[in-house]
Amino acid sequence: MKRFLLEDYYEKYEFSVSHLLSQSDCESMPVDELLALEPEAEEGLKKLWLGYTEVKGCPRLRERIALLYQKCGPEQILVHAGAEEAIYGFMQSFLQPGDHMIYLSPAYQSLYEVAASAGCQVTPWPLRQGPNGWMLDMDELAGLLRPNTKLIVINTPHNPTGYCFSDAQLEYAADIARQRGIFVFCDQVYKGLEWDGQPHSWMSDLYENAVSLGVMSKAYGLPGLRIGWIATRCRKAYDMMKKMKYYTTICCSAPSEYLAALALRHGEKLLERNVSIIQSNVAYAQGFFERHDTLFVNNVPASGPVAFHRLRNGMDAAAFCEDAIKKAGVLLLPGYVYETDKDYFRMGYGRRNFPECLNRLDAYLKGQV
Ligand SMILES: Cc1ncc(COP(=O)(O)O)c(C=O)c1O
Repeated sequence: MKRFLLEDYYEKYEFSVSHLLSQSDCESMPVDELLALEPEAEEGLKKLWLGYTEVKGCPRLRERIALLYQKCGPEQILVHAGAEEAIYGFMQSFLQPGDHMIYLSPAYQSLYEVAASAGCQVTPWPLRQGPNGWMLDMDELAGLLRPNTKLIVINTPHNPTGYCFSDAQLEYAADIARQRGIFVFCDQVYKGLEWDGQPHSWMSDLYENAVSLGVMSKAYGLPGLRIGWIATRCRKAYDMMKKMKYYTTICCSAPSEYLAALALRHGEKLLERNVSIIQSNVAYAQGFFERHDTLFVNNVPASGPVAFHRLRNGMDAAAFCEDAIKKAGVLLLPGYVYETDKDYFRMGYGRRNFPECLNRLDAYLKGQV
């Protein structure tokens, strides 16, 4: 497999810089804050049996996850070690060399790289820069289909642009897929971080031949749990992914499953907290982008914790990001890690210390650090 450019970049800097301004997860919390959500929680954790749990995920957690869905029950939920294991397991088990796959682009690299490395043809379905942010041409999807297209990969809310599909768009994609017997893998790890007041469904509720990917890492701000899941009404896809788990993690960590179920019992509260942090940070950044209008195109996110901003005048984002790290200890994420145009960079809005980090970038731009 090719180098994972984004993860390589973070590995190099994430734990050594002083100001993280590009993270895609929301504000996290210590274990005791999570345990304080319920009076019996701490005692329950201490008494937890540390044997293997079910390959599918412990029943209590799957029951809790299933409550998020309209049409998927606990037997249609398969718990994984984070979202990444599920992406890998699905792509490896579902695709064969020579299959064709269409993916929303730019994309988190594993969403196309695992397939490409398995010998599949992969075609980007591009989000494009519009005058007021990111735009997607739904009609373009049908034109990208080939006789051997087996899979469409969508990510909504989207990393890195903050683009968000409406339910009508998801249904439209499902209709196209249904007509041609194509499967859909929908990465919804940022689900719950929409603020347009519209309903946003899981793809596996809208389409019977889809896998929806969810996770504790992003919207709930608990990546250290390493708990993700898929939901699907397709038994064949479910069983294939379950068999892959025998070769990867077998089952998840029992304490993590316990804590994930606890967090999900208070999921609405956690999501509300995180949406409000993001919204307040997006509002805070307006002044910054107005002050530096000659330098950046803002591209305000429509939802989710990240935005893909653009440097004006074709400036190279990689050099800009490196300099910001070196001189100010501010970590941005250059667009090249998404194998896209060189003048984009990602910022993350999900953390409480966002204003402080943005002020640091501001000071750097003014030559004050
Ligand atoms: C779109 C998307 N999918 C999957 C993942 C992987 O998530 P996890 O850390 O839970 O494995 C990420 C992480 O950044 C992501 O942005």
